[in-house]
Amino acid sequence: MSGPDLRRAAAARALDLVEPGMRLGLGTGSTAAAFVALLGERVRGGLDIVGVPTSEATRAQAEGLGIRLATLDAQPELDLTIDGADEVDPQLRLIKGGGAALLREKIVAFASRRMVVIADGAKRVETLGAFPLPIEVNPFGLTATHRAVEAAVARTGCAGAVRLRLRPDGGPVVTDGGHHILDAHLGRIPDPESLGAALWAVPGVVEHGLFLGIADAAILATARDGSADITILGSLT
Ligand code: A5P
Repeated sequence: MSGPDLRRAAAARALDLVEPGMRLGLGTGSTAAAFVALLGERVRGGLDIVGVPTSEATRAQAEGLGIRLATLDAQPELDLTIDGADEVDPQLRLIKGGGAALLREKIVAFASRRMVVIADGAKRVETLGAFPLPIEVNPFGLTATHRAVEAAVARTGCAGAVRLRLRPDGGPVVTDGGHHILDAHLGRIPDPESLGAALWAVPGVVEHGLFLGIADAAILATARDGSADITILGSLT
């Protein structure tokens, strides 16, 4: 079983949660893209749902598949968001933003009655932090914000480099919202709630990739004996 097979297996399990008439938040990343692809097949078969995409990439994919879309302003309350994650801990705390879509992902998930994470089982960790924590920042005063983020990280008992995320051509990554991303390479985050609060206290921080108390469940797919073994954290109902 390859990574794509596992992502598709988790996405297929999430598709079982979709009911006609639902207002769905559509996540970003390769696992969310697997879900959107499967959802597109169901829509072609007659399923009527409306989706709110969490990125321009997901919008383009969903539009190409004929999935009816709305803005969050037109549909400010969603029934369910399905999205991937970079790390999931036993308390369903997440790191997200590896694809730089964390701001819209968090806004959409927060507007949903339920958020269900779909991921390769390798994303499950005991302690968050091996994956660099993405922090979305306003371009204005970037150097000052960068320093303030480093200080906030150090104050909450974390250690490690905070680096501006760059594109292959050397320029800074620009998010769908026109912001930049600082990646905090911390190794472990002993107290995600304290770190999240400290980051929010920095004026140039637009949002951080710690999703705390937002996810209701996670569908994790792991290879076992040539097939995908599904583990559910939390409750799908
Ligand atoms: C996008 O900004 C991220 O939050 C993704 O959801 C996360 O990086 C997971 O992506 P994959 O499904 O591609 O691993």
